[in-house]
Amino acid sequence: MILGIETSCDETAAALVTHDGDIVANVVASQADLHARYGGVVPEVASRRHLELVNPVILEALREGGATLDDVDSVAVTTRPGLIGALLVGVAAAKALAWARRLPLVPVDHLHGHVASLYLRPLDLEPPFTCLLASGGHTMLLDVRDRGGYHVLGTTLDDAAGEAFDKGARLLGLGYPGGRAIDELARSGDATAYEFPVARVPGLDFSFSGLKTALLYAVRDLTADELAARRADLAAGYQRAIVRALVERIEASGASRVAVVGGVAANSELRAALPDAALAPLALCTDNAAMIASAARYTAAIEYPGYLELDARASA
Ligand code: KG4
Ligand code: ZN
Repeated sequence: MILGIETSCDETAAALVTHDGDIVANVVASQADLHARYGGVVPEVASRRHLELVNPVILEALREGGATLDDVDSVAVTTRPGLIGALLVGVAAAKALAWARRLPLVPVDHLHGHVASLYLRPLDLEPPFTCLLASGGHTMLLDVRDRGGYHVLGTTLDDAAGEAFDKGARLLGLGYPGGRAIDELARSGDATAYEFPVARVPGLDFSFSGLKTALLYAVRDLTADELAARRADLAAGYQRAIVRALVERIEASGASRVAVVGGVAANSELRAALPDAALAPLALCTDNAAMIASAARYTAAIEYPGYLELDARASA
């Protein structure tokens, strides 16, 4: 089995995945509560928490899978992109484990990991397809021709879709992270009560900063009581504009086979708007280590002990 480790942002995660793509264990310790009072992830706080959690989370994955390190034949870890201090904790843990056990180590690109959430059983999706990757850090349209990688067709010019959800939730007083809160509140709102702009930039790129400003203006003019009364309508209209922008870009690509991954792929309105798309399973949308182990199945491993100088990288 492959032991996957993911610490690129505010989830400390470990998973066991077989070489056929079956998930044996998938443990995610979210730090969201820790960062909520700051309204977003504080990088240094995240690094320190990863350091406390990484070993217990790996042990928990082994326990959940009824396995020991004897069952692990390679270690996969996210090396890029992400918060550099957070990444380094996972990379150091992975190196130490792999080195102590004389195992190969597989350095994984986090974005490849999100796409590889589709390669796990039972979904086991075969390329080619066009993939929308929408998360807190990225919003991209990808051309996926084989399981080993992807080509970027379009990306966001400013905020990521998940970031737009999180900033919108903050303006609406819904706390962090906000995507799920907006998703839930929007169900009781009227999406047509407010007109929010859907940005249309040239090509297959995305833009969400104008939308965020529109929400800011709408909220600014309301008293606290008015905001309380209109919060669900605002959430519904705001979510509708984000979903429209994402769906329009997929349509503009002319893709016939479409897949959606990343934290925003958990959004119920987006899922309903794409009935024919392959959607990452809900548990695998937000950051996890099963997707990292899955990507490792299609990534070159570094044999023992060649990975000791392996470094993490903040950028893709
Ligand atoms: O993939 P992910 O866990 O982290 C990154 O790699 O960035 O995505 C997290 C993002 C957050 O911005 C969160 O608000 C958003 O995914 N998210 C959602 C939903 N669940 C999580 N956005 C919209 N609707 C949801 N149900
Ligand atoms: Zn992610």
